[in-house]
Formats: sequence, C-alpha cells, structure tokens
Amino acid sequence: MLRRELLARSGLALAAGAMSSTSGWMEAAAEDISPQTLEGPDWPAVRSQFALTNEYIHMSAMLISSHPKPVRNAIQEHRRGMDADPLTYVFQNNRRLQEEARTAAGQYLGVGGSGIALTDSTTMGVALVYNGLRLTANQEILTTDQDYYVTHESIRLAGRRTGAQTRRISLYDEIEGISEEQIVDRIMHAITPATRVLALTWVHSSTGLKLPLRAITDAVEAINAGRDEAARVLVCVDGVHGFGIEDMVLSDLGCDFFMAGCHKWLFGPRGTGIVAGTSRAWESLLPTIPSFIDSANWQAWSSGTDPEGPTTASRMTPGGYKAFEHLWALPQAFEFQQGIGKARVAERTHHLAAQMKDGLRAIPKITLHTPRSEKLSAGIVSFDIEGLSPGAVVHRLRERRIIASVAPYAVPHVRLTPCIQNTPAEIDTVLQEIRRIVS
Ligand SMILES: Cc1ncc(COP(=O)(O)O)c(C=O)c1O
Repeated sequence: MLRRELLARSGLALAAGAMSSTSGWMEAAAEDISPQTLEGPDWPAVRSQFALTNEYIHMSAMLISSHPKPVRNAIQEHRRGMDADPLTYVFQNNRRLQEEARTAAGQYLGVGGSGIALTDSTTMGVALVYNGLRLTANQEILTTDQDYYVTHESIRLAGRRTGAQTRRISLYDEIEGISEEQIVDRIMHAITPATRVLALTWVHSSTGLKLPLRAITDAVEAINAGRDEAARVLVCVDGVHGFGIEDMVLSDLGCDFFMAGCHKWLFGPRGTGIVAGTSRAWESLLPTIPSFIDSANWQAWSSGTDPEGPTTASRMTPGGYKAFEHLWALPQAFEFQQGIGKARVAERTHHLAAQMKDGLRAIPKITLHTPRSEKLSAGIVSFDIEGLSPGAVVHRLRERRIIASVAPYAVPHVRLTPCIQNTPAEIDTVLQEIRRIVS
C-alpha cells in the first residue's frame, strides 16, 4: 500500500517525491509510519529521521542540529564523490549545486534564488551585512539591549570602520505583560533622522521573546516614505530562531535583510546559513569576501577591471573552497521541512512550547521569561528556578538525561527548546523532572 497513501496523508509525500532515490527518506518514512497516526503528520516518522540518541531528551535545537536522514545521505554521497576525485567532483558540481541551494532557500523564503547569499552561519551573515553597509559618520545604527553578542559586536566593528554611531535602546522595562504595541512604540520613538540601520533579532535567545516584525517594519515604512533612498531605515534581522519554525516568507516580515544559520531549527547541514535580501537592499552593501560563484566578478578580475553593476546576492556569497558536501546538502534540508509542511512545523513547535510554558507556570519557584502568546514567542522557552543558578539547573537536568542550555548573556537564563523532534510525552517528562528539582 499504501506507501504512497501513507506518505500523502502524513504530509511526507512532497519530501519523498522531491528526494533523490539515494536519499533514503521515502524508505525510512514508510518503515516508521504507524497506523494510528494516519490523520496527521507522522511525528514518530519525522523523529526517526534523526540519529539522535534515545538516552536523552534533546532540548537544544536552537544551538546545533542533528542532520535528518535525507541530509545525512546527501552529505555522504557528496563526500564519496569528493574523496574519490575532489577536483573533478567540485568542477562538475559546485556551481550547479550552490545554485540549487540558493534556489531551495529562495523558494522557502519566497524570494527566488537570486535573493539569497549562502554563508557558513548566522554569525557570518550578520557580520557580512553590518560590515558591508555603506555608512557615513553622520549615520547611526540603532539596536537594542536585548540583541545578541553577534549583532552587538558586528555593529561595533562596523561603527569602528565607517565612523557611524551605534546606539542601543531597551525594548522593555519588564518582559511580563509586554505587548506588540509597546515594542513598536519604543522603536519608533528611538528612530531619528540619523538612523540608517535598525539592527534587530527576531526571536531573542535569552528570553525567547519574538518581535512583531511586521508591525515594526510597517511602522518603519511610514517613516521611510518621507526619506530619500540613501537615507531609508534598513531593517536588518538576525532571524535564526524563527527560521525553520514559523510559517512565513520574507515579504511577510517586511525586513530588508534576514540572516540565519541553517544548522539550528531548520536541521540543515552544520556550517551553513543564508542571507536573504530584497532586490533594492543588496545595493546598499559592499561585499567583503570575494565570491566564487559570480562569473562577472571573475571576468572583471581576469580583464583587470572593476566588476560592473550593483552588489548582488551572488557577489555577497563568500567564496573559497569549503566543506562542500555540507553546503551542497542544503536543498535536502529545505525539502525535508517542506515535506512535513511549514504550517505543520509551526503548529507543532508552538503547541509543544505552549505545553512546556503552561507546565512551568504551574510549578512554584519558577520564573518564566518567555511570553505565552504565540505572537510573541516561538520555540525557545526561557526560565529560572529560585535559589539555583541557570548553570546548576542545566547540570541537574543533564543528570536526569535532559539536554538544556544556558543563555550566554550578562543575565543568563535556562533554555528548553521543544521542536519537531520532541513529543508531548517528552515535555511531560521534562516538567516532571523540573518539579523534582524544585521540590
Ligand atoms: C540570536 C543568535 N544569533 C546567532 C547565533 C549564532 O548562530 P550561528 O551558529 O548560526 O552563527 C545564536 C546562537 O547560537 C543566537 O542565539
């Protein structure tokens, strides 16, 4: 049977059809599907795609991913080719496979492959964007206290290079009871005529707060309506903790640049990432690292001239020889996600996070930092236990075979990250163990 029907009903058909015959996804999905799960996505089949040890409950997808089977298989196939004859394999495949990776990312984000630069990580994308912006000393980069080290450090360096000022505001006094309007209001009041860049993080990795990006970018657009192109406020977003969770395309967010690693919630190959930008936004950047995939760049170099034309995403894609087998396996990661369905991934992740948050709120001595609202949160659940340091909590959870993490911020918190690898039963177990730690 039924294999086709099972796959179709479980939402896996797209992935199965899209994968190459060597991917193994179809075979594994068929083996692992159980009859009682025919009505919805077959989450046990999804979980079985990962080679995660069952000795632990894994709540660390926000840091580095385990590869699902189609990604593992693609990497293995490319690695075999590379090990057998590296130069021939690179020459025969590199340009095509990088274009396929850009196309897959572009399709996922609704921008087309030409709107995607390939990077190694969120960090690389964030740094390339902020340090590539053509800024002047009378312009300002505005960010928030709640942003991450990677954004703060990149804009500090961009300020040092260009002379542009950097300024931070706090998005709130208390996260409890925070509203979308409050966040938008704080940002709008902080923008001045000098503000050229608004540097934000979509989902904060300390508290799990998700910014209402669309409301922010709509408000910024109203300011931009009265500005020249060169003075427009560019909204640049570290989007990594919403990427691979939320059911969105870039135009839903309205930002100019979106930087994300593919090796966290997207479960893509480790050491991969993207920058997505709107067509007008790319022109505001200068590349830092020579591109190997932009033919015009090579031609200009060989004829001893400067490359003509504006900066493009392909020119912003850093060149050099790489861990190609990982980069080339990116399409399989996007296919995997879309095979399950972006809406289903979002629903499942939010559902599990809500279960975790509701459970934590009912436990005494716990301060939950992440908002309950789906509009203001994604998959990160952040909390503290009275009388215990976050590091001690993470240690005790690990003793109980639960892998959590500490936010590496000045004020650290404990983070749990339910995702499509997890089950409601695992959330219950985690909550039970936390109750034991508290009592
Ligand atoms: C908000 C945020 N941005 C960027 C990073 C780093 O991502 P990458 O490993 O893709 O550079 C992290 C944490 O790992 C993070 O929490």
